[in-house]
Order: sequence, then structure tokens, then C-alpha cells
Amino acid sequence: MDSIPANRRLWNRISSAYQSEHDPQIGAAPRLWGMYSIPDARLGALGDVTGKRVLELGCGAGQWSRALAAEGADVVGLDLSEAQLAAAARAMGPARYPLVQAAAEQLPFAAESFDLVFCDFGGLSWAPPHLAVPQAARVLRRGGRLVFNVASPWFEACYDEAAARVTTTLQRDYFGLNTIAEDDEATSYVLTYGDWIRVLRDADLVIDDLVEPRPAPETPNGYNQTTPPDWAHHWPAELLWLTRKP
Ligand SMILES: C[S@@+](CC[C@H](N)C(=O)[O-])C[C@H]1O[C@@H](n2cnc3c(N)ncnc32)[C@H](O)[C@@H]1O
Repeated sequence: MDSIPANRRLWNRISSAYQSEHDPQIGAAPRLWGMYSIPDARLGALGDVTGKRVLELGCGAGQWSRALAAEGADVVGLDLSEAQLAAAARAMGPARYPLVQAAAEQLPFAAESFDLVFCDFGGLSWAPPHLAVPQAARVLRRGGRLVFNVASPWFEACYDEAAARVTTTLQRDYFGLNTIAEDDEATSYVLTYGDWIRVLRDADLVIDDLVEPRPAPETPNGYNQTTPPDWAHHWPAELLWLTRKP
């Protein structure tokens, strides 16, 4: 299934409302991961990017890319949505970086041209991972890293559509995960642990770590209601994969 047209339409439509709601949180400080804005300094996922060639897959308004550009990375922000890229252009700081409109499953870059490819609920949440992961692996140099944060299968399996919240009751089949129907016929993707391992292994990537970000009990989720409010302190809401091209 080609989810590119519908996903592009969805993000073009919601970009402005999304940035009004979430930019104050996700743009508040550099290097904040995920729904709970956990600092990378605590998780140690990206490391020093100075002088490195970096690609952000699904950069949105560039909250991550502009921070890395300011640190001295040679970063490219890629996104499918022209509205999101326009927001990134408006928010760009003095450290300029290029913005590219493309899909994570069809990367318009030469093989072995980046030291780091990463995203935070970006291209690996909104493009089919069995297509996007091999593309990321292709554009990485030997020794380069693919680092990405996505929703955990726990979080998705416990999402109660009717109540519009995550609860402590399993709501859908773990083995039925993969494509998630979003508004406007768009699609996002949440894989099981086994499927992630197979997709990464099939792209010849080595898994260095799987970080399960654990927010402090009082940390709010900026995106979803949960019952109990400290749900993610008890169960992993996100998977932060640290992988490498050997
Ligand atoms: C939740 S945002 C992630 C960006 C940023 N980290 C944030 O939290 O706002 C998802 C982004 O993925 C982009 N996107 C959707 N489908 C995509 C695809 N197939 N390839 C690349 N980017 C895509 C959307 O346009 C959107 O900007």
C-alpha cells in the first residue's frame, strides 16, 4: 500500500494546528525525545554530532535538526509535507541547514552519504519500516548509525479508541499491529519487537541497544491521555533503537 499521498495530505492539513499545540513543548530545549520530552543527555542516544553528516527522516518543524545544526552538524531535514517544511524554514536559526521534500521510503540521496540517520516519531513511524529501514541503511556510511524513536507495541495495544486514551487493558491484538489507520485515510506504523528485529537484521544493521525511555512519574505526556497518568513510568511507551551499519 502506498501511504505517501494520504500522509502528505494529512500533515499538510494539520501542520499549523500541530505546531501551535506541540512546538512549545518539543521546541522548548534542544534534543528532547518523544511524547515525554526526555532529554537526550539522560538517554545518551545521539552522541556528539559535530562535523557529522546527519539526516533527519521526517523533521517536521525542525526542532531536532536546528539544534543539531547549531551544534555543528552538517544536517539535512527531510519531510514529506511542504507545510511542515515551511514551518521548519520559518523556525530556522542562524545555523542554516537544507530542507528536502521527500518520503522516507524513497530517499533521494546517494548511497553511503550520511554518518547518522535519525528520527523521533518521524519517517519510521509514518513510512512502512520494511521500505524505510533499507533506504536509511543504504544512505549510511559504513560505521554510520540509524537511531530512531517510535511508539512501543505496548502503548498501541493498550490504546482505547473509544475512550481516546491509553489504559491498562489490552485493546487490540499484538500480532495484528503493523499499520495503524489515522485520520483522512493516512497510515502510521507500529511494529512488534520481533518485526523490528527482522526489519533491522534484513537491512544488515546491527542493534547496539534498545533504550526504553522511562519518564519520571509526574512527567506529562504531551500527546495522549493515559490512565493512570503515570502509565509510561510503569510500561514502556516508546522504543529508542540504536543501530549501526557494520
Ligand atoms: C510527529 S511528526 C515528527 C516530527 C518531529 N519529531 C515532531 O515530533 O514533531 C511526523 C512527521 O513525519 C512526516 N512524515 C509523514 N510521512 C512521512 C514519510 N513517508 N516520509 C517522511 N516524513 C514523513 C510528517 O510530515 C511529520 O512532519
